[in-house]
Amino acid sequence: MYMNIEKAQVIILIYLDNAATTFPKPEEVYESVMEAMKSYGANPGRSGHKLALQMGRQVYTTRELLAELFNVTNPMNIIFTSNCTDSLNIVIKGLLKQGDHVITTSMEHNSVLRPLYMLKDRGVEVTVVKADSMGRINPEDIKKEIRKNTKLIVTTHISNLTGTILPIEEIGKIAKEKGIYYLVDAAQSAGVYDIDVEKMNIDFLAFPGHKGLLGPQGTGGLYIKEGIEIEEIKQGGTGSFSHILQQPHIYPDRFESGTLNGPGIVGLGAGVSYIKRIGMENIRKHEQDLTRHFMEEVLKIDKVKVYGPLDISQHAPVVAINIGEADSSEIIYILDEKYNIAVRPGLHCAPLAHKTIGTFEQGVVRFSFGPFNTHEDIEMSIKAIKEISLEL
Ligand SMILES: Cc1ncc(COP(=O)(O)O)c(C=O)c1O
Repeated sequence: MYMNIEKAQVIILIYLDNAATTFPKPEEVYESVMEAMKSYGANPGRSGHKLALQMGRQVYTTRELLAELFNVTNPMNIIFTSNCTDSLNIVIKGLLKQGDHVITTSMEHNSVLRPLYMLKDRGVEVTVVKADSMGRINPEDIKKEIRKNTKLIVTTHISNLTGTILPIEEIGKIAKEKGIYYLVDAAQSAGVYDIDVEKMNIDFLAFPGHKGLLGPQGTGGLYIKEGIEIEEIKQGGTGSFSHILQQPHIYPDRFESGTLNGPGIVGLGAGVSYIKRIGMENIRKHEQDLTRHFMEEVLKIDKVKVYGPLDISQHAPVVAINIGEADSSEIIYILDEKYNIAVRPGLHCAPLAHKTIGTFEQGVVRFSFGPFNTHEDIEMSIKAIKEISLEL
């Protein structure tokens, strides 16, 4: 819960839309962005004067923090992007060529599905492995779909609809055995769940900076395993090799043309430092406790349907519900207007996932919890859902 002081009017707002972007952020994130903008807001990697060098050093510090978090040996293999969508597009479009085959799942976000379907029209073969009604994927179903020309497997780590945690380590093992690249969409897991690119055989890790990593919007990143050749989808100034007309192939410059979001990246670094200080396992435990509390209580309410696994060890802090047959947009309107509770309705950019769990027409009301939510937030939400369910 947080206080929003607007025009001398105090609104108590309960923000439960952390799967879209986390809010609020830790104080040090706000402070570091402000400091970067006010004290050394120069262009990193350009110019070579003191301020540019300071911004460059800070950007590198964030690269190092992220590399450490995901067990990446060389921080230069982490590319900064503007969001997770950007990172996913870089791999999907930079790797797949006409005649290649790619396997994905029915639980993916449109940031995976749309680039793949665009490439499908250009001769890339796409297989979508169907999840069960809880959003669970059986790695054996992925294995069965492997062909001679399968180049890439791409799956989400956690469904942004049902909160289902996918077995990425097992899928990574299959990919490695078969010599296929594995791209993981860590949009809902980075900063909350353990990710080790070595142990999990992840070749590409796409992640947003603005969700679990607690950085500002407009930040994201991509890990590319050393030695894998992918073509950059954007060319331009990198501040390096300026005398040549071709894109340099060194990392991270190859994929970072144009001015970076320096202050945003500094804020992302502050977000990662915060997570390290508090302990990712403590943040995860807090969010799991909130999820358990919410699920236990919401399941007691007549008319409420909860989607995704009921076992909390398989369920991230993203909970999809419906109240009777009511349209999800109507519910969130009441939650927002009457109770000042912010959640997300509709299809959550995951149409195939909705088809998988049978909510394509109705949509769902998605509650997603962050590190700053409290058990009081949960109680107030449950009270609101109870009242709405009686009125409908
Ligand atoms: C599973 C998943 N993948 C990708 C994305 C896209 O992330 P971004 O908004 O940072 O591009 C989201 C956003 O909600 C998501 O939930």
